[in-house]
Amino acid sequence: MRIDVLSIFPEIFSGFLEASLIGRARAAGLLEVAVHDLRDFTEDRHRTVDDVPYGGGGGMVMTAPPWLRAVRALSERALSERPPSAGDAPRRILLTPQGARLDDAAVRRLAGHPRLLLLCGRYEGIDERVRELVVDEEVSIGDYVLSGGEVPAMVVIEAVARQIPGVVGLPESVLNDSFREGLLDCPHYTRPPEVEGRLVPEVLLSGNHAAIASWRREQALEATRRKRPDLYRRWLASRRNDGG
Ligand code: 6GU
Repeated sequence: MRIDVLSIFPEIFSGFLEASLIGRARAAGLLEVAVHDLRDFTEDRHRTVDDVPYGGGGGMVMTAPPWLRAVRALSERALSERPPSAGDAPRRILLTPQGARLDDAAVRRLAGHPRLLLLCGRYEGIDERVRELVVDEEVSIGDYVLSGGEVPAMVVIEAVARQIPGVVGLPESVLNDSFREGLLDCPHYTRPPEVEGRLVPEVLLSGNHAAIASWRREQALEATRRKRPDLYRRWLASRRNDGG
């Protein structure tokens, strides 16, 4: 999978892209990520990317021309790199609080595209015509405001990367992930067996794998019911629909 990113702060991504799971996935050739500076697609001496809003009001608005040039240049580059086939055109995603909220289903859907192009706007906004002309979908990571789409883009990259076969060491880790089935994860324990008087649940020391599996499942159900009643209701409804 290949992900291109457009931002006016490409340096924000460097540590993130080198370390841990993402760094290893890139080194192993499972994931390619390239971050591009939007200012490289400006044509004036000051490399201007914003201007005052029509209609007045505070803040600045990112101007359309650099975005259009950048998105088109990167899309064309993608198409010319390999034998041109429709599947290689990147899915163009604008990170914005106005987007559809990212969830596990959306992550898996995005991971199905061989190429993504992530557009990191700044909060004040992007000229609406960018969205109209070169954006396939808008994604938000939650109902709060961030200064720009850079952190949300890293969220998308990490969540999508975990779906690529081989990126997460043990495939069970992804299959057992919280949300895979619409439930939260069960609690986890490791050594030492006692921490400030608190003991590890006995069943985990029993060696009885069936008992352990059913304890974990009960714990996941109970945690979901208590902490995320919204998810729990949805999970119950989906079970009823499966005839479960
Ligand atoms: Cl994708 N962008 C910004 N600027 N703020 C956000 C967001 C995105 N998702 C939640 N808040």
